[in-house]
Amino acid sequence: MTVDVNTCILGIETSCDETAAAVVIGGTNVLSSVVSSQVDLHARFGGVVPEIAGRAHVEMLTPVIAQAIVEAGIDDDRIDAVAATVGPGLVGSLLVGVSAAKALALVWDVPFVAVNHLEAHLHEALLEEPDLELPVVVLLVSGGHTMLVEMRDHGTYRLLGQTIDDAAGEAFDKVARFLGLGYPGGPAIDREAMSGDPQAIAFPRAILDEGLDFSFSGLKTAVVRYVRANPDVSTADVAASFQQAVVDVLLTKARRAAAQVGARGLCLGGGVAANSLLREQFLDVCEGDGLHGFLPSRPMCTDNAAMIASAAWWRLQSHGPSPLDTGADPSLKLALVD
Ligand code: KG4
Ligand code: ZN
Repeated sequence: MTVDVNTCILGIETSCDETAAAVVIGGTNVLSSVVSSQVDLHARFGGVVPEIAGRAHVEMLTPVIAQAIVEAGIDDDRIDAVAATVGPGLVGSLLVGVSAAKALALVWDVPFVAVNHLEAHLHEALLEEPDLELPVVVLLVSGGHTMLVEMRDHGTYRLLGQTIDDAAGEAFDKVARFLGLGYPGGPAIDREAMSGDPQAIAFPRAILDEGLDFSFSGLKTAVVRYVRANPDVSTADVAASFQQAVVDVLLTKARRAAAQVGARGLCLGGGVAANSLLREQFLDVCEGDGLHGFLPSRPMCTDNAAMIASAAWWRLQSHGPSPLDTGADPSLKLALVD
């Protein structure tokens, strides 16, 4: 199959708690991107309940796909391939999207493309800025992962650093829960921090002075200890000081990584890249270091299917279609080079 700028891909994303479908042409031209969030279903439990997530995907996926095709203004026969996230994620959720994608590929007699969710997050920046010059360093910060990756080419990734315990998004979610700010925690802390003083409390910045790995579990514990010892502290000050500590560590390491590999550009990706302070200070850092900084738009940072269709377009060129017996893999890893 020839893959070119006219190749039209339907992407499907169901790895966690967003049911999403998108139609993207040529890897960058997003005709539609529909995301149905399950936040309301999980909020009263304070986190994602896998069983509920899987059932909600079953209910929502067909209408979401239909909406994506209608919004794209195309007929089904314009679709050249169907892609879905095969991992990492919740197995019961992944299976819904993978089964639907394979069924549609069979019915429409087009290729199926299996996409790694992390690889899709790495492509967020390129989706919106296709001419970005490689290699770039991508700081991928989501609910399950915190990684610094050197993207040398599409499909050629070198891991520079990663978290040794909690992911950055996980730290936001846990601290928000502890502070009673609700779920999802990232946006709640982002909002609360707006009225707080980021210098109010000197929370620890773990392993700041060396290497490219991260650690956030000590920070979470420090927040809990501080609030227990100072019950009258302003929640906004705690949120702002916590957020500042996370952002300081993320950006210090990202700069170090860019300098170490001599990258021209630095990109952000993943749900935490929607954070207001991180976005603002990321651009300052890039300007200060003479790096080309690229920030995906907020809707592109959090889980969506446009990034799946985009990553699939590159993958279809390099690897061709995926076999129909490709299974969902909840702990799928990113293929890395040394
Ligand atoms: O990439 P994503 O949508 O899903 C995963 O692949 O994990 O990331 C979700 C994570 C959650 O931990 C959520 O709290 C965090 O991204 N997040 C934020 C913000 N928006 C979402 N964290 C900080 N500030 C935000 N504005
Ligand atoms: Zn994600």
